[in-house]
Amino acid sequence: MSQDYHFYEPAHGHGLPHDPFNAIVGPRPIGWISSRSADGVLNLAPYSFFNAFNYVPPIIGFSSQGRKDTLNNIEATGEFVWNLATRPLAEAMNLSCAPAPPEVDEFALAGLTPAPARVVQTPRVAESPVAFECRVTQVIALQTTTGADTGNRLVLGEVVGVHIARQLLKDGIYDTAGAGHILRGGGPADYFEITPAQLFRMHRPGYPFAR
Ligand SMILES: Cc1cc2nc3c(=O)[nH]c(=O)nc-3n(C[C@H](O)[C@H](O)[C@H](O)COP(=O)(O)O)c2cc1C
Repeated sequence: MSQDYHFYEPAHGHGLPHDPFNAIVGPRPIGWISSRSADGVLNLAPYSFFNAFNYVPPIIGFSSQGRKDTLNNIEATGEFVWNLATRPLAEAMNLSCAPAPPEVDEFALAGLTPAPARVVQTPRVAESPVAFECRVTQVIALQTTTGADTGNRLVLGEVVGVHIARQLLKDGIYDTAGAGHILRGGGPADYFEITPAQLFRMHRPGYPFAR
């Protein structure tokens, strides 16, 4: 089957009404990151350039497009907490992305409750059913092909504590389809919600065992 392709080199522009990059690499999980300044001011913000990068030990990461409060806090304290964004929390998650000055606590801004973490000093979002407490392992300066600093940073952190609301454990198995995860699509406003309707199963050939 032959297909007609729109081709572009990103360095020279995409030639489309909107940059399709985010819409293609999507929908993406949301890194809803709580952090704390050296002075103890709480911070909360969503990062959809976010994913898991290592199984054992678990390592997650997100990228900061430019220098933001979250990055400053994490460099100062060496820790952060990831909170699961779910459909009931979508509007609060969105409010927490407001470009507020460092002295503003986005937990308060978004009407959320900070709950103490167990291993790190940074609180999690009490209303969220899942949280990962993380210690920073690397902050990597993202470079271009010529080695120029993009000014953007990839933050990686080892998960050192995991909170899971017990109702999401069905016979001990985490219920992704029932947890109401939301994901970021492209464009200015697209999101997706995961429900059981999206679930299909496919086993890896020659890989019958589960972790
Ligand atoms: C769903 C969503 C995803 C976002 N993803 C990113 C991201 O991956 N990287 C980034 O730098 N900003 C991202 N932003 C914007 C930040 O949340 C925003 O700049 C925020 O004010 C940063 O807060 P902070 O300065 O408290 O860290 C995203 C916003 C939303 C709503």
